[in-house]
Amino acid sequence: MLRLENVSKYYGTQKQSYRGVEKINLTIKEGEAVAIVGTSGTGKSTLLNVMSTIDRPTSGQVWLDDMNLTSAKKRERSKIRLNNFGFVFQKFNLIGGLNVYDNIVMPAVFAKNKVDYEWVDKIIEELGIKDIQRKAPNMISGGEQQRVAIARALVNHPKIIFADEPTGNVDTVNSENVADILFEQGRKNGCSLVIVTHDMDIAKRADRIIRLDDGQIVA
Ligand SMILES: Nc1ncnc2c1ncn2[C@@H]1O[C@H](COP(=O)(O)OP(=O)(O)OP(=O)(O)O)[C@@H](O)[C@H]1O
Ligand SMILES: [Mg+2]
Repeated sequence: MLRLENVSKYYGTQKQSYRGVEKINLTIKEGEAVAIVGTSGTGKSTLLNVMSTIDRPTSGQVWLDDMNLTSAKKRERSKIRLNNFGFVFQKFNLIGGLNVYDNIVMPAVFAKNKVDYEWVDKIIEELGIKDIQRKAPNMISGGEQQRVAIARALVNHPKIIFADEPTGNVDTVNSENVADILFEQGRKNGCSLVIVTHDMDIAKRADRIIRLDDGQIVA
């Protein structure tokens, strides 16, 4: 479904360039959960960003089914992203001026989709955040913020959820909860999951583990 062909990403200028990732060939199948592991600076976030069209690769191609995401214009990429992908970042990036509920439906509003209110209520219920839905993000705990971020990632019925160290900011119990929810959502809704993690216990729950070293896939 999502395919990377010989993808490389370098940062900086031609004179002074820094390796992000190099020569990545990778396919994410429908419904598949893939964990990306590797030590700091090996290119995990870079890989996630180029896979998910947040960033453009320096060379190589990224395909979603028969759509070439690399050649798509910025506007088009953002539309593709909103309609097909859900994101959970390490820093939750919730909007302070909006309450929990409005944060969750925001991607649907951005995508100009009709908000699927039944679906929103269902995920709010499942994530156990019903009681806090009218609160501001700065009035809820880190674990709660993380669950709100997951709800927001699900609102547009994504084909793929991208999560960059989603358990990095929460304690062990919450970290397991977050991982449970992400894997379970994938299974239940048939969406794929690409999760960057330092936690091997979480990585092991994926269908496949991809290890990066110096910007390349080593296993
Ligand atoms: N904007 C940037 N400008 C220059 N170099 C960058 C930039 N972003 C990342 N890099 C470099 O690219 C390499 C890969 O970074 P990346 O953030 O993908 O690593 P990572 O595996 O996600 O690390 P971590 O586990 O610490 O999050 C690093 O050497 C980093 O310094
Ligand atoms: Mg990173």
